[in-house]
Amino acid sequence: MSSRILVTGATGKLGKLVTSRLIKNGDRIRVLTRRPDEARRLWGGSVEIAGGDVGNPQSLRASLQSIDRVFLLSPISESLAAHQIALIDAAADASVQHIVKISGSSWTIENAHRSRAGAAHSKVEAYLFGRGLSHAVIRPNAWMQVSLAPVVAAALAGRDLPGRYGGAAVSFIDFNDIADVAVHALRAGLHVSEPLVLTGGKAFTTSDIAGLVSTILRRPVGIDTQAAASSPGHDDAFATLAVPEFGALIAEGLAAPVTDTVERILGRKPVSVKRFLEQQLAPARSARETAEGDLQWQ
Ligand SMILES: NC(=O)c1ccc[n+]([C@@H]2O[C@H](COP(=O)([O-])OP(=O)(O)OC[C@H]3O[C@@H](n4cnc5c(N)ncnc54)[C@H](OP(=O)(O)O)[C@@H]3O)[C@@H](O)[C@H]2O)c1
Repeated sequence: MSSRILVTGATGKLGKLVTSRLIKNGDRIRVLTRRPDEARRLWGGSVEIAGGDVGNPQSLRASLQSIDRVFLLSPISESLAAHQIALIDAAADASVQHIVKISGSSWTIENAHRSRAGAAHSKVEAYLFGRGLSHAVIRPNAWMQVSLAPVVAAALAGRDLPGRYGGAAVSFIDFNDIADVAVHALRAGLHVSEPLVLTGGKAFTTSDIAGLVSTILRRPVGIDTQAAASSPGHDDAFATLAVPEFGALIAEGLAAPVTDTVERILGRKPVSVKRFLEQQLAPARSARETAEGDLQWQ
């Protein structure tokens, strides 16, 4: 009989990818969500839905009954550490065999005194390690789908790209690679004492990215150094303070190092920034090609 897996954060950006992959693999999945209707809309009867809140001990206990493995993810907030520690305790009580935790980027944890999100994840990592449960901690670098969203939006709108991070390079990672590694770690019961530090295959500055966008769209692309990065606002006060801390650390070049973890675990290269941008900018590119084709016929 296959393991039964509890997925937390399943209705969020990364959790959705992890859940879909596990469903495709035929795994037995339960998702813990405060929004059961959303989970039903996403997956119908393919998952068991535990409606509840991580902050509520009763819903935690119920969600962990007969569970073998847990995918642990919480959004950045004041309660991240308390929620995840409570979940680890409840999982140990329920005899869960293995936990895969999505942590913060390595440079936030190594600089936890300058990153409140890094400090919260660091506390959970230490706790998980101390409880002695089989586990894998995944520390992904900045996600392309989040960090490059303002760049893609500007390129699609025909604007100059927002100049960010003071020209520092970043080895962005595609969140599909993170999901693939997480699913592997869950299904294989991968126990590692060191965190899995995931990055893309190469680090890019905004100027490098402008060059790629220019090649893809076949037009000159500038950088607006005055433009504040239009990152989406946060309802959560903790996250509102955490995000500028990320920007300051990235501007020091701390998010530039490249690891080979994705390739080592998945046996393939990480998704490249070029491929990501080609996919994201496909609508603008085909609109341009259509317009050029129309001109040729005139
Ligand atoms: N973005 C990056 O570049 C980056 C880099 C490194 C690490 N990370 C880490 O990735 C994580 C964020 O992942 P994400 O962006 O995929 O998250 P997200 O899209 O914000 O989704 C958050 C999920 O958490 C669930 N949730 C929130 N509070 C809950 C509660 N009290 N009880 C039960 N479920 C709750 C939500 O479910 P419901 O609303 O359905 O309950 C939702 O599924 C953070 O820990 C962050 O540190 C991100």
